[in-house]
Amino acid sequence: MKICFATNNQKKVEEVKAALGDNFEIVSLKDIGCIDELPETGDTLEHNAFQKARYVKEHFGVDCFADDTGLEVDALEGEPGVYSGRYAGEPRSDDRNIDLLLKNLEKSSLRKARFKTVIALLLGDEEYKFEGVAEGEILKERKGDGGFGYDSVFVPNGYVQSFAQLTMAEKNAISHRGKAVRALISFLSNI
Ligand code: IMP
Repeated sequence: MKICFATNNQKKVEEVKAALGDNFEIVSLKDIGCIDELPETGDTLEHNAFQKARYVKEHFGVDCFADDTGLEVDALEGEPGVYSGRYAGEPRSDDRNIDLLLKNLEKSSLRKARFKTVIALLLGDEEYKFEGVAEGEILKERKGDGGFGYDSVFVPNGYVQSFAQLTMAEKNAISHRGKAVRALISFLSNI
């Protein structure tokens, strides 16, 4: 089955390909000739995921799924949440986002946080939603250089390594996106 993963983040495409195995052919936006910046103007993960997927379906006519992920930090009342990608403003920068996050948590001993992923799937005329959550804590400084985004400052519950110190397979097994993708796969395998 051929499905477009509506993201411009090549690392995410690789993660999902690794999780999906050979039963599905995942094509990227580049593969379908989409170079547009996908709209994400909502204030929830769900809104943005469906907005991106619907844009690709409408303009390129392909079955597709889109994800939206946010990091919710308890001491920051759920921020940066849906604004995780542009936490430190435009142009987007993982490095500046992490700097701002660590600065805002400087005086906080409460480090509890979670990543949440929503996946919107558009298949034929139907729309479906899948979710995944990874609970953990925010470090006081960066650890490891794998992964992307906030990986180097997020330690999942039950681990001492940050997401950036885990292999892609290890991260996939416990991550928010891994869980959401497995829910997607389980659904796709049963249709
Ligand atoms: P997006 O909506 O999935 O593009 O993600 C929004 C923000 O969350 C971006 O800054 C990403 O870097 C960050 N993010 C998404 N997924 C992950 C992850 O698996 N690890 C660390 N940061 C992530």
